[in-house]
Amino acid sequence: MMDGKTVPGPKGHPLLGSAADFVAAPAEFLLRVAIDYGDIVRFRVLQTTFFLCAKPEYIQEVLVTQSEKFHKARRDVAILSKFLGRGILVTDGAYHKRQRKMVQPAFHTTRIQAYADIMVEYTRRMIDQWADGSVQPVDRAMRQLTMEIVAKSLFDADVTGQAGVIGEAVETLQQIAGLDFRVQNVIPDWLPLERNRRRAAAAETLNQIIRTIISERRKTPEDKGDLLSMLLLSEDEQGTRMTDQEVRDEAVTLFAAGHETTANALSWTWYLLSQNPEVEARLHQELDTAFAGRRVTLADLPRLPYTAMVIKESLRLYPPAWVLNARETLADVRIDDYVIPKGSSVFIAPYAVHRNPRYFDDPLRFDPERFSPEREKSIPRYAYFPFGGGPRVCIGNSFAMMEAQLILATIAQRFRLLLLPDQRVDTDPQVTMGPKYGLRMQVQARQIGGQA
Ligand code: HEM
Repeated sequence: MMDGKTVPGPKGHPLLGSAADFVAAPAEFLLRVAIDYGDIVRFRVLQTTFFLCAKPEYIQEVLVTQSEKFHKARRDVAILSKFLGRGILVTDGAYHKRQRKMVQPAFHTTRIQAYADIMVEYTRRMIDQWADGSVQPVDRAMRQLTMEIVAKSLFDADVTGQAGVIGEAVETLQQIAGLDFRVQNVIPDWLPLERNRRRAAAAETLNQIIRTIISERRKTPEDKGDLLSMLLLSEDEQGTRMTDQEVRDEAVTLFAAGHETTANALSWTWYLLSQNPEVEARLHQELDTAFAGRRVTLADLPRLPYTAMVIKESLRLYPPAWVLNARETLADVRIDDYVIPKGSSVFIAPYAVHRNPRYFDDPLRFDPERFSPEREKSIPRYAYFPFGGGPRVCIGNSFAMMEAQLILATIAQRFRLLLLPDQRVDTDPQVTMGPKYGLRMQVQARQIGGQA
């Protein structure tokens, strides 16, 4: 093995290591060890040793410079591939590279612009149902909305009436994956467990619907303008298209990766706005000047810089992808003076960097001005990375930012969302990080907001 400086970290319990702290509050644990031990930290959970890269330069090494030396950790892949198959989120190496190139065209700027109207239309439909003064389960409303948007953007008209069924199946599969992540060993499919039975049933429903959609589409191979058309038409360098199974896996991956994250980002943004009235007032001012009540469109986004700053700052404090999938080292990897041995699991956690006072002054303060054009430039690279980085940076990054801005602008134009006094708020770091106790808020119609 290569020689390197000893990686610091907590000793923990002789048998359990840091298991108790890590399991009780994983995001806070990673933040605390990042603050206490610095650039790179080593800790043990039962028999497994983990490394946390906490310094932006080291994160860049893992995600970009030496990314080919890291694969997604086997355990994460085993759990997620049970429903994502071989979609880009869970594959590595040459196959990942090929598939990523095939999926990428679906996210070209010109392509995603077509989805903007869907985003605004679905948001308006939702808030048309909101009565002034009513209490809404905002976390659930945001999930439902982003799910409908991704269903429509992926499958266009084919899912009318079925979006709910697809969404429910994907939510079940995601929820069971979440349970799997909480146990040490990967649960074999053949065990007669309730969770395996539910997983199999949801997978069957999902696969049947998607298989039918794909085979219908193959009959008339025209471009319907949705993500699925692009997946079906995409060719690799040899001019080969994806098989039905490959299209299925990528479509389910986009569906799964494409709604819960954005929904959580929006929920946290509503929460933060309710706690920071001066920020909320500035947001309203920007929206009222730009629209005076008229419908938001994609062309308006350049005129909404503060709206974008609010979302960026919300993604800093509450990054929905609070930790990336663990990476496994394929060989000994040298980072600066340290060596991470072959076969180690490495964590990269946006939450543990975004809230570290070393990189952000007064890190718990919600201050969108950090992302003003002048100040944003001074944030070190990889001190802020809610969408990851390098060859597997979030493929839906621009889609998500556009979606969050359009939804926020459309709703905030018409309503204020007020936190109920008895609503408890805490983070719930599962596969993504949402509000632990939900987010019930009272909606209050605004004066200037449009009748448009
Ligand atoms: C605010 C919303 C979102 C956040 C915070 C987010 C965050 C991330 C992060 C951090 C990664 C990298 C994971 C890693 O390296 O382990 C990622 C990957 C990915 N995201 Fe997103 N995402 C968001 C929205 C979306 C949307 C809307 C889509 C699709 C419509 C999407 C599709 C994907 C896919 C397919 C990958 C895997 C890419 C690969 O490994 O090559 N995401 N996302």
